[in-house]
Amino acid sequence: MKTGHIIKLETSRQCPVTVGDGLIEHLEEHFDFSGYSSMVLITDTIVHRLYGRGVLATLKATGKKVSLFTLPTGERAKSLSTVERGYKFLLSNNVDRKCLICALGGGVVGDTAGFIAASYLRGIDYLQLPTTLLAQVDSSLGGKVGVNFKGKKNMVGSFYQPTAVIADVALLQSLPPAEMRHGLAEVIKYAIAMDEGLYRILERKEDNDFSAAELKDIVRRCCRLKAGIVEIDETEKTGQRAILNFGHTVGHALEAVSRFKGKSHGEAVAVGIIAVAKISQRLGILKADDVERIKKLIAKFELPTSCPGVSPDALINAIRFDKKTTLGQTRWVLVKGIGKGITDQTVAEEVVGKVLEELCR
Ligand SMILES: NC(=O)c1ccc[n+]([C@@H]2O[C@H](COP(=O)([O-])OP(=O)(O)OC[C@H]3O[C@@H](n4cnc5c(N)ncnc54)[C@H](O)[C@@H]3O)[C@@H](O)[C@H]2O)c1
Repeated sequence: MKTGHIIKLETSRQCPVTVGDGLIEHLEEHFDFSGYSSMVLITDTIVHRLYGRGVLATLKATGKKVSLFTLPTGERAKSLSTVERGYKFLLSNNVDRKCLICALGGGVVGDTAGFIAASYLRGIDYLQLPTTLLAQVDSSLGGKVGVNFKGKKNMVGSFYQPTAVIADVALLQSLPPAEMRHGLAEVIKYAIAMDEGLYRILERKEDNDFSAAELKDIVRRCCRLKAGIVEIDETEKTGQRAILNFGHTVGHALEAVSRFKGKSHGEAVAVGIIAVAKISQRLGILKADDVERIKKLIAKFELPTSCPGVSPDALINAIRFDKKTTLGQTRWVLVKGIGKGITDQTVAEEVVGKVLEELCR
């Protein structure tokens, strides 16, 4: 049996997070399917082609009824119309409350399937089987589920914890390099905001080629960091969970402005991290050397460190309308050293403007 490292996530529902290499081949050894009446596998077309058949076979070997609901790939699938199709699918398959939804895929599948699970029959269990680095280190745990609405990201959703998360780093072998980089942006986020040790691991890496052992270590560290935060602020009430948004204020703004279209969330977050580092430097809390170190690391992983051609004014406007803005005041997550993010900071718009002008040049 391939063993996984188990992180206990103690939230409103207990959610063990298992991280390992080669777990998916023997899923039944890592999750107890016995209490369920049936299973529905939700995945996207690419992931289905790669891993769907194997997972379906494992689920069918339990002797339960198993059905498959496939989403198209990409962010557009994260919509209310997909959710409605999902409800119709579940209804036509007579899915009852004892059914388990298995979400096999990246963040798009996880967020959408999780929202279907959260709302169908007022909530049925779901298992997260993340297949991208981003999903393994971030989106699959923490219980944020939902879809985009009227062009706005994650506008409709809920906090609904999965029954378990099983992150198999072997699945990352087939991930295109660009997707790997997007996930790395989130890993870098954890490192700068919360974990200097992780930062050093990334800094020591000479290339983008991660072994399974390295990935296991990275995913495990990130899951532990996220679990620690989610446990103390499960529904983003106390403000502690905001540390996970490090780099995302400018990142989200970049995603909202048209000139950055075609770039990914990871690329936007990378530039957002640089913005925060520079703002922190201007405020005198981060050393110039650290800003350079951060820039070097981001560039090494072939992520952007600026956004030439984007309008700084458009970015400022987008920041003002970010859904995480409270009472018109943006609360920033800044950094005062590697591994030392600080939440709930206000920054004069003039300082933000100067940094954005630099980055957009
Ligand atoms: N819920 C949360 O807390 C949270 C946190 C961060 C991001 N998100 C959401 O996550 C989404 C992005 O997730 P993502 O980056 O995983 O994108 P994604 O789900 O779109 O996956 C990216 C692409 O990789 C393919 N793919 C997935 N696994 C693969 C594999 N093992 N091998 C080859 N190809 C594979 C997919 O088919 C897709 O084409 C966004 O919608 C974002 O809002 C949610």
